[in-house]
Amino acid sequence: MKEYFTNSPETTEEIAKEFASTLKGDEVVALYGGLGMGKTTFVRGLCSYFGINSGVSSPTFAIVNEYNGDIKIFHFDMYRINSWDDLYSTGFFDYLGQGLCIIEWSENIEAALPDNTVRIEFQQGENFTDRTIKRIS
Ligand SMILES: Nc1ncnc2c1ncn2[C@@H]1O[C@H](COP(=O)(O)OP(=O)(O)O)[C@@H](O)[C@H]1O
Ligand SMILES: [Mg+2]
Repeated sequence: MKEYFTNSPETTEEIAKEFASTLKGDEVVALYGGLGMGKTTFVRGLCSYFGINSGVSSPTFAIVNEYNGDIKIFHFDMYRINSWDDLYSTGFFDYLGQGLCIIEWSENIEAALPDNTVRIEFQQGENFTDRTIKRIS
């Protein structure tokens, strides 16, 4: 994935769909970038590629949402995860390999991410709706 530029949620979803087409369905995809950068929007686009067209939202309180489309997708939001105990109680390790795991606020669980994790960073651009999205590992 090269570096992408977007200035609308619609374009962010399109970028996510293109990225989704490169996945097998059992990867761990870790998203980085602060509040309002478009992480959930990106997950929405990615899910739509796999036939999931509703119900995709930030699982901040639930920690993980499960979606069933062409593949299984586990959508995590690690915003409230501050310790290994917290992480274990989400069942995170049991989900690995069971489907596509896509993670918001990956910063909070960096040490727990598998070696082959795909990392994607979102950054604010010059104008209010400008974002760059790039794969960093
Ligand atoms: N280029 C863009 N890509 C994605 N969202 C954008 C963009 N520009 C503005 N937005 C707005 O920013 C917010 C992004 O929200 P969300 O996807 O929930 O972010 P996050 O999950 O990173 O907190 C939405 O209100 C959306 O309308
Ligand atoms: Mg979010």
